[in-house]
Amino acid sequence: MIHYLSGMELLAFDETWYEQVEYITRTETYLLTKTRADLEPVAKDGRVLIAVDADDLHKVVGCIVLWDLGRDERDEQWYELGTFFVRPEYRFGRTHLPIGDQLYARLLEEQPEKNILGTTGNKKAIHTGARHGMQMIRFGQLPEAVRRATCICPIEKTGATNNFHCRAKDSLCRVRVSTPTWDRMGRPERLFRPLSDDPPTNRLTKETS
Ligand SMILES: CC(C)(COP(=O)(O)OP(=O)(O)OC[C@H]1O[C@@H](n2cnc3c(N)ncnc32)[C@H](O)[C@@H]1OP(=O)(O)O)[C@@H](O)C(=O)NCCC(=O)NCCS
Repeated sequence: MIHYLSGMELLAFDETWYEQVEYITRTETYLLTKTRADLEPVAKDGRVLIAVDADDLHKVVGCIVLWDLGRDERDEQWYELGTFFVRPEYRFGRTHLPIGDQLYARLLEEQPEKNILGTTGNKKAIHTGARHGMQMIRFGQLPEAVRRATCICPIEKTGATNNFHCRAKDSLCRVRVSTPTWDRMGRPERLFRPLSDDPPTNRLTKETS
């Protein structure tokens, strides 16, 4: 049995969850490292959802976070869905437990009014998003301030000093927005080009958050 914790329940939970999440973000290729300093204010704002194993209540088995991306030119707030993982031994492929899907669904269902995007080069995460209505568009279709806020990879990942010219965008790295966000954007044209099966080179792609 898997429990899902956020808000006050999460804040009252065993504090080792911070270190567990940090450790996993340090070991997974597509994730940016997140420390307690990053996670705590966001958890206090109710934007962290974790999955724990009911048989081993101190064990974090999955996580998803809505990171603050700032405001667009119309003064609307945006968020980036990130720090999305399921511990390897709990993944669907091994257990048939839909933990990743549950994390995604609960987070999106709870926040339809929020403008939410996700960026990744991980095909499995793209497939998870697609099962929950994430619409793939081009980075250039995002409001400029939002694109700048999400495209923060360093030069060794982007191959460009100006991230506007990132060589991974819309190829190795994809952006998707939730369906309510896509509706509010005026339903921009979607990108249907599949992600290639090539392995990522030198962590070229990232989870912003
Ligand atoms: C992305 C991640 C959370 C997905 O975990 P998961 O939901 O348990 O799924 P698995 O990785 O076991 O996926 C196995 C297959 O089952 C599919 N699957 C998963 N849940 C499913 C469900 N509920 N129904 C049907 N298929 C499902 C997956 O899409 C995948 O198939 P694919 O290769 O065709 O996409 C996990 O791989 C992970 O933690 N990766 C490392 C961190 C990371 O890269 N995060 C993404 C950054 S954006």
